[in-house]
Amino acid sequence: MKIDILTIFPDFFRGPLDYGIVRRARETGLVEIIIHDLRAFTKDKHRTVDDRPFGGGEGMVLKPEPIFECLESFGDVAPRKVRMRPGAKQSVILLSAQGRRLDQMLAAELAALSQTEKGRIVLICGRYEGVDERISDYLADREVSIGDYVLSGGELGAAVIMDAVTRLIPGAVGNQNSTRQESFTEFAGEGARDTQGDGPSSTCVSGGLLDYPHYTRPADFRGMAVPEVLMNGNHDQIRNWRRKTALAKTLLNRPDLLDRVALTAEDTELLEQIRFEQVELDAIRRQDILRDGASPVSTKDQK
Ligand code: ADE
Repeated sequence: MKIDILTIFPDFFRGPLDYGIVRRARETGLVEIIIHDLRAFTKDKHRTVDDRPFGGGEGMVLKPEPIFECLESFGDVAPRKVRMRPGAKQSVILLSAQGRRLDQMLAAELAALSQTEKGRIVLICGRYEGVDERISDYLADREVSIGDYVLSGGELGAAVIMDAVTRLIPGAVGNQNSTRQESFTEFAGEGARDTQGDGPSSTCVSGGLLDYPHYTRPADFRGMAVPEVLMNGNHDQIRNWRRKTALAKTLLNRPDLLDRVALTAEDTELLEQIRFEQVELDAIRRQDILRDGASPVSTKDQK
């Protein structure tokens, strides 16, 4: 797969390109990531990439010419019309707060381009108060946002997409199973669980839920103990605990995800248990507060 990034801050990408999985994927040739300096496609001596907005108003707008010319210089990017067809092998993406929000499904869709012969992603980093709308209307085939907040430019977004996509390319992560188990990973048609393999690590997938908690040694750190169940070697119990904690975390932090996940009858039962335990816990807390006049501090909160 080839990823091209168009930016006026090429140095920004030194960090994101040079560490961990992205670095390894580049070194092993799984992905080729090329940073293009938009100023190289300007024609004036000041290398101007932005201008004032028509109609007045605050701020500067990124000009269309350097962006169009940079993309055209590649010579082999399919026309926008072709890229917009289902099954297209290339995508030119404008990073912007106005775009479709990035999620794991979109990352997987983009990573799937790597399996095609001419798979290619072009990421255009917006900047300043905006980008000339003709980029979105005539050049990019989609606009993507990395979240509901406004950043000062698209570089962070491009780095996020580059990372999320690269680690999904087959071979980028040592154990491909680990990308199948993490938060948000959905298995369309496979149900909520993967039943292959013996150990708990290969038999518990998140199925669109947030990931379950992970622990490593020491088993007791400053009095904070690892849950007993993870150390008893009982794979059924471990699997059950992981599913339950994944459900509990999702219920607490992202209840909206539960509406989109195919829950099994067992999941529904676990959720009932979690809600019941939560009510009990709240009642104990309320009693403690009434008795002591203060909220009890959990081990987790103690610093
Ligand atoms: N540029 C400004 N805000 C952005 C966002 N949320 N995502 C992607 N690009 C952006």
